[in-house]
Amino acid sequence: MSRQEPRNVPPIDEWSRLLDGRVAVVTGGGEGIGGAIARLFAQHGAIVEIAEIDPARAATNAAAIAESGGIANAHVVDVRDQADVDRLRAGVLDTHGRIDVLVNNVGDYRPLVRFADSTPESWQAMYEINLRHVFAVTQAFLTAMIESGGGSIVNVHSVEGMRGFPGEPVYASMKAAVAHFTTSLAAGYGRQGIRANGIGTDLTQTPQVDYLRTDDDHSDRWESWAPVGRLGWPDDQARVALFLASDMSSFVTGHNIPADGGTKAGGGWFWSGENQRFLNRPPVD
Ligand SMILES: NC(=O)c1ccc[n+]([C@@H]2O[C@H](COP(=O)([O-])OP(=O)(O)OC[C@H]3O[C@@H](n4cnc5c(N)ncnc54)[C@H](O)[C@@H]3O)[C@@H](O)[C@H]2O)c1
Repeated sequence: MSRQEPRNVPPIDEWSRLLDGRVAVVTGGGEGIGGAIARLFAQHGAIVEIAEIDPARAATNAAAIAESGGIANAHVVDVRDQADVDRLRAGVLDTHGRIDVLVNNVGDYRPLVRFADSTPESWQAMYEINLRHVFAVTQAFLTAMIESGGGSIVNVHSVEGMRGFPGEPVYASMKAAVAHFTTSLAAGYGRQGIRANGIGTDLTQTPQVDYLRTDDDHSDRWESWAPVGRLGWPDDQARVALFLASDMSSFVTGHNIPADGGTKAGGGWFWSGENQRFLNRPPVD
């Protein structure tokens, strides 16, 4: 193969299964956005390694994938725990001897602490759930991915890492760090076959961000809320992850794509005089 040809890119007629035979690790792959990514990757032929803290979520999603004819293995791990990350690495590499795709998806804004009330302990917690594990899991698999002939790293962060977030600057800083880690990783390891891209998510219905909870119905407000005029779903994020993980994006690296229904483009913050704070939805008068 000429050095100028793309790596591992199949002929276009083989692209109905975009990840055929690839080994893909998805952190937080039991539910929410990670759960949808795991299912879509499996539909596209990947062998999916679900790294999930919740045993029931891990088992349920792995079983759903198996029932629909896919392949998935569940690893019950807390990605904040280095020993768990080491165990995940060993489990995946001892079984397959390779890794082709890594999705770092775990993250959380909770508990939401206003900066004036925050503490060194709350900063540390934000670091551990949103940033440290991205370093740890990436480092655990990077060398093996290079030795596998290259691969794709997809980091799910937040649109709040790509714009100012008045409500929680510490969380936003962690997400911005994930985005910049992604860009820097891409610049450093592209020659060794590694692509790295990020997804700046927003407005997506998941267990963590439950827009449909019955005590807070705002179904009539989406039109004025998101530029696309609707709520986002985990599958909206999973399709972006599939593009970035697969050879469809073989010449794309180092970028962070807002998958946000247009909120970054549209600004997204509205001042509420009544509440004396910014809201990420139009105030109700
Ligand atoms: N949903 C949104 O609109 C939205 C907006 C901005 C950013 N995000 C980001 O997208 C990512 C996914 O969010 P989501 O809404 O699907 O979250 P979620 O909480 O609904 O799902 C996360 C999954 O990860 C698992 N998990 C949590 N902590 C873990 C740990 N320490 N180790 C292993 N697994 C763990 C959970 O059990 C769950 O299955 C996160 O990084 C989040 O910050 C989401």
